Amino acid sequence: MRPTILVTGANGQVGFELVRLLRPHGDVIAADREKLDLAEPDAVVGAVRGARPALIVNAGAYTAVDRAESEVALAQAVNARAPGILAEEAKRLGALLIHYSTDYVFDGKRTTPYPEDAPTAPLNVYGATKLEGEQAIAATGGHALVLRTSWVYGLRGRNFLLTVRRLAAERDELAIVADQIGVPNWSRALAEATVRAIVAGLPALAERSGVYHLSATGQATWHEFAQAIVGDVARRRVVPITTAEYPTPARRPAFGVLDTERFETTFGFGLPEWREVLARCVTSPVDPIVA
Ligand SMILES: NC(=O)c1ccc[n+]([C@@H]2O[C@H](COP(=O)([O-])OP(=O)(O)OC[C@H]3O[C@@H](n4cnc5c(N)ncnc54)[C@H](OP(=O)(O)O)[C@@H]3O)[C@@H](O)[C@H]2O)c1
Repeated sequence: MRPTILVTGANGQVGFELVRLLRPHGDVIAADREKLDLAEPDAVVGAVRGARPALIVNAGAYTAVDRAESEVALAQAVNARAPGILAEEAKRLGALLIHYSTDYVFDGKRTTPYPEDAPTAPLNVYGATKLEGEQAIAATGGHALVLRTSWVYGLRGRNFLLTVRRLAAERDELAIVADQIGVPNWSRALAEATVRAIVAGLPALAERSGVYHLSATGQATWHEFAQAIVGDVARRRVVPITTAEYPTPARRPAFGVLDTERFETTFGFGLPEWREVLARCVTSPVDPIVA
């Protein structure tokens, strides 16, 4: 029998890719915000009990990092309470939950990649609510994989790649922060790795429960990432600036590179270097829904 798979945030960068990639593996219920509002606890419970999935992939999240500073309750409801409810309901059904989290659970004071068990200390509301979500999942004691990743981009949605492309078309010069270091990750590569891990991990996937860092390798500043993007589009000057010169409501970690060894040894594969992934992304056909 084909398993039922519930995907939340089905219209998000990662969720959209997951829905397509998971279809060959089960009956996918693609729940976007209209079908399932993660801020509504009763709706979350109802969706899981109605669908009775074997697998829940929670790709929905409140990801507006700056707005979260002033919408704390909503960010908390979506990023912390909803994952806890999903985990609780998954446990009742004997289902597995796959959930995404972020490098923003860390304070960015390290200079070498963060392992999963490094102390967490989020600098902003988004990171704090995502950490609460991880903790709510762990507290249920159910079967769950929490995949922390960073700097997600793609050819649809709202993200740095599309913003830089737009700015490059409008301006001769772009000023981009050069003192924050992280790793860009294409949404499709993350979804592909998630599905591959599910398949590689069967039949004992539930026994691999825990937190994993899933990311491309290498590292970059936002400035280097922008240069790599603009290099493909047009000749534009990309000027490095400091975080202090680009004040935002939310503080961001200066360093967010994730150590991916645990994921690689557990599932037997990892993602390539971020530039290689970016090259694949920008040469992939534009999604017909967006075009
Ligand atoms: N984006 C990043 O840079 C980044 C970095 C590290 C980790 N992550 C994590 O990776 C995962 C996937 O992120 P992503 O990049 O795919 O984010 P995304 O593109 O912003 O997608 C998130 C989806 O969640 C939906 N959502 C927001 N509030 C909701 C609600 N109340 N009820 C139901 N759905 C709701 C959004 O709907 P709308 O489209 O209607 O807003 C959106 O479709 C998330 O867990 C995120 O925290 C992301």
